This record gives sequence, structure tokens and C-alpha cells, in this order.
Amino acid sequence: MNSPKLLFVFGTRPECIKLAPLIVEAKKRLLQIETCFTGQHLEMAQPILDYFKIIPDYSLNIMKKDQTLNDISKALYEKLQPILLNSQPDYVLVQGDTTTAATAATIAFNEKIKVAHIEAGLRTHNLHSPWPEEFNRRVIALAADLHFTPTEKATLQLTKEGIPTDKIHTVGNTGIDALRLVNEKSVSISKTHDKFKILVTLHRRENFGNEMISLMQGLKVLCEQNPKIEITWPLHQNPNVRKSFDHVFTQRLVNLKIIEPLNYFDFIQAMKQTDLIVTDSGGIQEEAPFLGKPVLVCRKDTERTESVDCGSARMIGTDAAELIRTVQELSLKNSVYEKMAQKRTPYGDGYSAKKIIDIFCK
Ligand code: UD1
Ligand code: UDP
Repeated sequence: MNSPKLLFVFGTRPECIKLAPLIVEAKKRLLQIETCFTGQHLEMAQPILDYFKIIPDYSLNIMKKDQTLNDISKALYEKLQPILLNSQPDYVLVQGDTTTAATAATIAFNEKIKVAHIEAGLRTHNLHSPWPEEFNRRVIALAADLHFTPTEKATLQLTKEGIPTDKIHTVGNTGIDALRLVNEKSVSISKTHDKFKILVTLHRRENFGNEMISLMQGLKVLCEQNPKIEITWPLHQNPNVRKSFDHVFTQRLVNLKIIEPLNYFDFIQAMKQTDLIVTDSGGIQEEAPFLGKPVLVCRKDTERTESVDCGSARMIGTDAAELIRTVQELSLKNSVYEKMAQKRTPYGDGYSAKKIIDIFCK
């Protein structure tokens, strides 16, 4: 049988990272593919495309400063639909749970084009956390014809939702493929004992306002109370994150280093050089166990429970006091720290892209 024509649609930093290994593998195997970069993110996404040498066939350039979810969807309905009609793929491939992914899946469904969902089956069972991603995932699951899940737990979830088992493939997470490829080229640095290094990222929409401010106040107290702590924080470009940051950090702190978002290679390097990660990111919860870095998850719910179950991650919510208590515990109790800081692979071995392309080539 001829292999199908695939159209990859992606718009944000994590979608670019997680689809890149798949696009590289599909090109290597000479599949008929096209790529569409919606530009939901710009500066934060472009370096990844450059790193993996991906030149999109279509670039939609939709990002607006402080865009609403409906701004993104509206722009996609206008600009993406004609591309789908022009490309006429056998499958539209979308990744994860962003507004780009959910809108692309909906437009494809409306045009009776099959959808393949990469990183399917993640659920918190709370539509408001993460918001709007939990809704987006469920919408994509309804539209999708093929579901590629990262873990057995995600597969079981889709089975419970009534999706036929022959439409679900457990393949691991392609984010680990990207990490494996980049990790091979970066250097490891062993833990120092004079400092306790923390890498921070915060960007979740459902945390904007009081919750993000509470977390930032916790980080400020940690810096002020403990000179041994050294924080590096690539600040997300969302203006809401920066507004909360400016509200809390009115003075410079010597042990707090604020930087622009790092390109993916440098970010992996920064993860390898840190002792602890404090984040509300989804992808970083998956990467940290692979690198053996303990991660504190600043959210009320997570869909990546495998990271918690394997012992690499702890859920700390958005309360400043809990953040301070947990960081102090990990910086002081080496035995507790070491239990978390083990390399683990709950999201696969980093060869998921090959498994997915094999299925399209059958
Ligand atoms: C989006 C995704 C979220 C994902 C996150 C990854 C949705 C609903 N949210 O959230 O699932 O976890 O990306 O980071 O799809 N901005 C820039 N330059 C950039 C990127 C963003 O200036 O390269 C600023 C813009 O002002 C933009 C704002 O950030 O309007 C928000 O971007 P958006 O993609 O809407 O939301 P995120 O919160 O980044
Ligand atoms: N990342 C990056 N530079 C940074 C921060 C994160 O390249 O400064 C990478 C990180 O390694 C992970 C991805 O971005 O692969 C996670 O993206 P983000 O946290 O924005 O989104 P989420 O995963 O929460 O959807």
C-alpha cells in the first residue's frame, strides 16, 4: 500500500519540540509530508524549527500580543482551512492540547479529513485545570481517527472513553525522542555542594493572577532567606506572567537570575546543570525524570501522574508556604533529594517517532 500523505500542524514551543522528531523521521523514510506552522508562538518556537532544520511549507503568522483563546481560533479558521483544502492530506497530525491543535483537529473533522493525535489520552478529569487544555484534549479525541498515546495509562483512559483499541497505539512520548537527540550533544555537570540551584518556569493560564503571584512570593522568600539558593528563571513571554513578576519582584535579588526563554538546546543544558526544577510546565514534567532531576509541579492537577508515581515529581499546588517548605526539605535532606533524583523513563525510551511512522507505513 502507498503510504498516506501527512500534514503536520503546529504552533507553540512544545508542539514544535514534540513533532520535530516525527517530521525528521518521516522525511528520512521519504513519506509524502507537508508542514504548517501556525505561528501561535513566534520567537519561542522558531529556534526549534531552525535547530531541527524544518522549513514549514505554510507559515500563518497568527500571533498577537496578549492574544485570547478566541483570537487564536478565529485566525486559524480564516487561515488554516484553505490550507487543508489545498493540501488535501490523508491525515492531519496534531500534538497535545493547544488551541492550535484543537482548532486544527476541528477544521479537519469538518472537512472530513482524518486526524491523528500525538500524545493522546492525557486527562486530569477537571475541565478547568489545566485550562483550556483539558477541554482541547477531549475535543481532539472526539475528532481523531488515530490516537498515539505516551503510556499504558493514557491508552486505558481512551479505551474507557469507548475508542476502539485498534485505533490506539501506545508509543511513548516523542518529546523524549527530541530530548534524547539533544541530550546526546550536551554535557552533564555533577551536583555542587556550596549552592542549591533551582531552575524555574511558570506560564499556566489557570494560574494567572493570585496563584502565580503566590508562587512568585514563595520564590522571593526563598531567595531572601537562603543565600545558598540560586535561581535561574527563563521568563515566559506571555505578558500576564511578566505583569505578575513585576508586581512581586520590585527589587533586584543577587541570587535570582532572570533571563529570556532559552532555546531548546540551552534549556536542556540548564536542566542538566540544576539541582531542582520548579515548574507548571507539562513537557518539563516529562523531561525531568529522563534527566534524573527532581521536579516540583506548581499546579493543583496534573495529567502527567506517571512522573509523580515513579518518584521524580511532587505536586505542590500554588501555595507559597508549601513551595518554601518543600524546597527547604529537598535542599537540606540529601536522602529525600537523592530518592527523587534518579533517572527514570516513564514516557518511553526516546524512539517513539519511529514507532508512529512504522504504523503509517503499514
Ligand atoms: C500556549 C498553550 C499552552 C502551552 C504553552 C507553551 C494554548 C491555549 N496554550 O500557552 O498549552 O503550554 O503555549 O508555552 O494553546 N508570546 C510571545 N512570543 C512567543 C510566544 C508567546 O510574545 O513566542 C506572548 C504573546 O503576547 C502571546 C502570549 O505570549 O499573545 C500568549 O501566548 P499563547 O500561545 O496564547 O498562550 P500561552 O500561555 O503561551
Ligand atoms: N523549554 C525551552 N526553553 C525554555 C523553557 C522551556 O526550550 O526557556 C522547553 C522545555 O524543555 C519543554 C518545552 O519547552 O520541552 C515545554 O514548553 P512549555 O513549558 O512552554 O509548555 P508545556 O509543556 O507546558 O505545554
